[in-house]
Order: sequence, then C-alpha cells, then structure tokens
Amino acid sequence: PGLVRSDRPLPSRFVVPLPQPQQRVGPVVQFTQRIGEQEIIPGMRTRITGFDGVFPGPTIRAHRGNPVSVQVRNDLDIGTVMHLHGGQTPPEHDGYPTDLLLPASGSVRGPTMPGATTVHQRSYEYPMQQRAATLWYHDHAMDFTGPNVYAGLAGAYIVSDDEERALPLPEGDRDLELLLADRAFDGDAQFKYPALSPEQRFPGVEALYLAGVLGDVILVNGAPWPTHEVSQTRYRLRWINASNARSYRIELHPGGEFTQIGSDAGLLEHPLPRHDITVAPGERVDSILDFSQYPVGTKVTVRNTYGVGSTDAIMQFHVVRQERDETNIPQRLSTIEKFRREDAVRTRDFFFALQFGAGHGHGAPRSSGGGFIPHRWTINGLPFDTERDWARPRWGDIEIWRFTGVAGHPIHVHLAHAQVLSRNRGAPRPSDVGLKDTVDLGPLETTELIMRFDTYRGRYVMHCHNLEHEDMAMMANFTIV
Ligand code: C2O
Ligand code: CU
Repeated sequence: PGLVRSDRPLPSRFVVPLPQPQQRVGPVVQFTQRIGEQEIIPGMRTRITGFDGVFPGPTIRAHRGNPVSVQVRNDLDIGTVMHLHGGQTPPEHDGYPTDLLLPASGSVRGPTMPGATTVHQRSYEYPMQQRAATLWYHDHAMDFTGPNVYAGLAGAYIVSDDEERALPLPEGDRDLELLLADRAFDGDAQFKYPALSPEQRFPGVEALYLAGVLGDVILVNGAPWPTHEVSQTRYRLRWINASNARSYRIELHPGGEFTQIGSDAGLLEHPLPRHDITVAPGERVDSILDFSQYPVGTKVTVRNTYGVGSTDAIMQFHVVRQERDETNIPQRLSTIEKFRREDAVRTRDFFFALQFGAGHGHGAPRSSGGGFIPHRWTINGLPFDTERDWARPRWGDIEIWRFTGVAGHPIHVHLAHAQVLSRNRGAPRPSDVGLKDTVDLGPLETTELIMRFDTYRGRYVMHCHNLEHEDMAMMANFTIV
C-alpha cells in the first residue's frame, strides 16, 4: 500500500481524550447520512460524510433475539449502501453493492448503476439471531467503498447475549469499542484521499495507491492518538480495524499482556494470553487488559509494531486511580461447534491476484461510463461481475474454502462465521482462533476456512477488505441454494 502524507504538521500524540461514540439501542435506530463537521485536529474543523454526520457513527447496541431495524435516510449527494459486517442478515438487507440508497434530494453526483435496486430511504432489518460479538457497519457502495468509508461512513455494532451477560466481564465505562482508522489531512485539515475522481464520476485511486491507501495519522474513535484515563482494573477493549488498507500489530509499552476473549464473530471458548494482537482491515479482536499490572501513574502506550514513524503508536492509557474490581475472566467463555476436515462435503479454491492492464471498468454498466481502470484485482482470474456466481453452496452444507494469494489480502466472507482450518497445510496462526468472518491471507500463502451455510439462502459477496482492492474488483458473488 502507498502512504498519503498530511500537508500540515501532525497533531501531538496522547493529548486528545478518547471519544466515546454515542450509543443507540433498538428496536428502531434512525440514521441520516449527512455531511457534518468535527474537530479531529485540535482547533480545526474536518468535513465528515457520516451516519448522522459523525465519525465514527453512533455505536448500535443489540441483544440476541431482539431484531433491530435501522432506518436510513440519505441526505448526501452520492449513492450509499449500508452493510453490517459480521451480521447474519437476509440477502435483501445485507447491503449488496448495487442495492443503492440514493440521495433524498434526487440529485446524485456519481454513477447510478442502471438496473440496480435504488431507493431514497429504507430500513435494514437485522434479525440478531447470532451470538454476542463486536460487529461494525459501513458503506458498501459499488466501486466507492474506499472513499466513502474514508470520508466517515462507518461505526461499531455490538451484540450481547444471555450467555455473555452471565459472565463477570467488565461492563459500562470499562467496556470500550476502539475503532481504528488511519487518515491523512490536507492543509485545511480535510481528509485527503487520492481518488482519481473526487466527484465520483468514475472509480479508482492514483497509481501509487493501487495496493491500498495508508494515512500518517492514527485515529481511534475519530481522535488522533488519543489518551484515556483508567483505573487499576480490568477493561474490555474491542479492537475494530476500520482502516482501508492498514494492518496493526498492537503491543503494550512498558510491557504487559492482553487476554484475548473473542474474535470477529464472537467469544472464544477459552481466554488466551496475548503479548500482541494483530488486526487486518475488517477484523476485530475482543480483549481484556488488566491495568492492575501497572502502578498508579503509569502511562501505557498502545504501540503498533507494524508501523514506522508517526504510525508506530495508536493511543495511550493513563492509570490514574485504584478502584474495586469485581470482574473476572472465566476459563470457559462460550461453546463453539468445531468442524473437522471430514465434515466438509466439498472444497473450493479461490485465487487472489492482480491483473495488469485490464482495460475498462467492471461490474454493472455505469451511466457516466468514463472509468478507465489500468489494473484490477481478481478472484480466480475474474473481476467482480454482479451477474456471475463464483460459488453456489447448498444450504446446510459444510464447505472448505481454500484461499491463495500472491500479495496479502484480508478476505471477508459475508454471512459466514468460519473457522480457520489450516495455513500453508500447517496449523492456523494463533490469531486465527475463534469464529472468523475475515481472514488475513498472507503473501504467497494458502489458508483454508471451514464453514456451514445454515442461516439464509440467497446471494452474498466475499471480497478483499483492503478497500482499494475491493473497489478495484476483488469481489465475488456466492449464492446459497
Ligand atoms: Cu466489511 Cu463486505 O464488508
Ligand atoms: Cu486484497
């Protein structure tokens, strides 16, 4: 990926307080997608394209068994799509890339995708028949997910369930969602994204950023390298990587250990001590950090050991007081039905690669038509096409999906809560534990996922969650029949 550099001095690190997103609970949540202004760099106003005009959008809190209806109105001048990442959602509510929600004003700046489903206002119905997990929602518009998420269209979505509620885990202000996103800022403190057409007349980014867009400022919940005061107790930290293309390896300075309790789609069976936590774009890691391992007064820096220079740190916690702690991390957190290789009825292969000089755009024909994509990212040699199915699993079947890539790709399969079966024919990585919807496929690596298609039937997508790869066609349909 290519680094976009900010055109202004970077804000000081560990000064801005950590923002806590506004919390919303069901059964009905109303959102207006609109332009807002937010103070991200102290003293400056940054234009946000966001759910309710803020970045991140409000956090939605849901409980298993209680459906949530999210009513969205689009007051922007671009078409949008809302997707609940990690949600087990019927296909018509999953946010298929061409199911566009068009501006209520009727004037749309970008392509309108003839033949696609388009409405001005709609509700997304989330059944919430799924286990407690840290999910997130974000824009999924065909060809423009990268710029739209970068502009602010993303937020956290937390599901609880009775089983989890019975556990003595930290709650309330000791349960923090931490949405990571890297950004670059122009001289006026506006987000700087290297789109070929900022007006969205056609998709694509400048050639340097074909492999992905990185920024030089790390935001947590929309604040640059924030700081947060904590007591000497356990905190639940839910890491959500909402970055377009940046992966993080999270470590603590001056030392210390996390306990991982969950991954993308829910709690692990047993807690796991972790010296470091890795999160690729789209992934989540649910962790406990026990601040009683530090004396009062300690500043605990959350480092990013994948980053260099300004991006080598994420945020800081300041241990400021003692407090009673009645929480605990039980040895048994949940139960996961494990699938073995023999349980699968078939194995499918997916190969992820860059295709050079591919010519014109892909997918649905565009009214504007002007897009020339010099290269595109493919799955099994083919760019995304809404008319083609890459796989048609039968409802109820357990399948193995084998992913191979030349470059690294965080691969996200909608609907599926999968388990990693192998890496390069050997054991999975420690970070592959639990139920996954996104797997970080390394360069020149083969990774196998095993999953059962037993929720909804219909058409879904799987794609690379490096959003520049996704927008440049690295996406495939699959239909559960
Ligand atoms: Cu988080 Cu298909 O996306
Ligand atoms: Cu990719």
